[in-house]
Amino acid sequence: MFSQCCGFIPDNNLKADYLPVASEGLLRQIVLDDTLHFGARPEVQTRTSWEAPIIWEGMFDPDLYDQKHIQNQSSVALTVFAVGRYLDAYLKTFLTSAEQHFMSGLQVTYYVFTDLPDAVPIIKLAPRRSLKVIQVERHSRWQDISMMRMKVISEVIETEIRHHCNYVFCFDVDQEFTGRFGSEALGDSVAQLHAWFYKRPQTSFTYDRNPKSKAFMESGDYYYHAAIFGGMWENVKDLADYCLLKIMEDKLNDVEALWHDESHLNKYFWLHKPSRLLSPEYCWDPVLQDKSDINATRLIWAQKHYDTLRTG
Ligand code: GAL
Repeated sequence: MFSQCCGFIPDNNLKADYLPVASEGLLRQIVLDDTLHFGARPEVQTRTSWEAPIIWEGMFDPDLYDQKHIQNQSSVALTVFAVGRYLDAYLKTFLTSAEQHFMSGLQVTYYVFTDLPDAVPIIKLAPRRSLKVIQVERHSRWQDISMMRMKVISEVIETEIRHHCNYVFCFDVDQEFTGRFGSEALGDSVAQLHAWFYKRPQTSFTYDRNPKSKAFMESGDYYYHAAIFGGMWENVKDLADYCLLKIMEDKLNDVEALWHDESHLNKYFWLHKPSRLLSPEYCWDPVLQDKSDINATRLIWAQKHYDTLRTG
């Protein structure tokens, strides 16, 4: 694995470049999540049974969150895998749209993992943002590509991210940012509600139901989508290490969980409750007909093209 650094300059003197909503002193005293308006969306669940917020449009003051995180010098690593044909099909749109909408104003480092480092498009980055390309091997099965990202994420947190960033967000590449995906999404341990299941009963959740797999679950809290997960680097490393260990144990026992790394991630978040959940506004599938709860689309699934992208 080698890394190519494109102008990575850690900036320890971040300043808000717009008018503050609160004075510096006042801002320092504010506990951001105390300002969440849980009643703003009566039609949806805004808090879990263990009191974690579920973030929906209308519940938070975006400027307050941004200013506090800028004051705290929060820095965010975004990891994304673009292996094989996925690079050409999705990476440019993913990165250019992230530059428009992902954590604007904050220090962000993109970590792009690919088997084709020379094919990574050159993207114009805003100040305080940088991009690193890291070469990874290409597994022949897409299931292994997906599962082995947990290994790579854990390694890069250890060798790189922990020295530069407080937070890590891990994304699938076949998505496009279409609206603010801002600092209100940051938290200790962040899970994404799966757009297809957030309104459906537990019995429909696609947990792994095979008792031979380490991902086996009889019941759980929600169905989480592995297309987005994040949190403080310590917690994301813990999640990645857990999933990798369970994937390897399954391999030794010759079983594979139904939805691969996603099944293990669901088990992890059942055993270690996330401190923050993102509503499907943060990862929406435009093919879904019922959009009645979706007041903002911040990121949408791109068309999948599995037939051509996952072969050869
Ligand atoms: C699909 C999605 C998969 C997986 C699955 C779980 O909609 O494309 O990545 O999350 O749901 O049932």
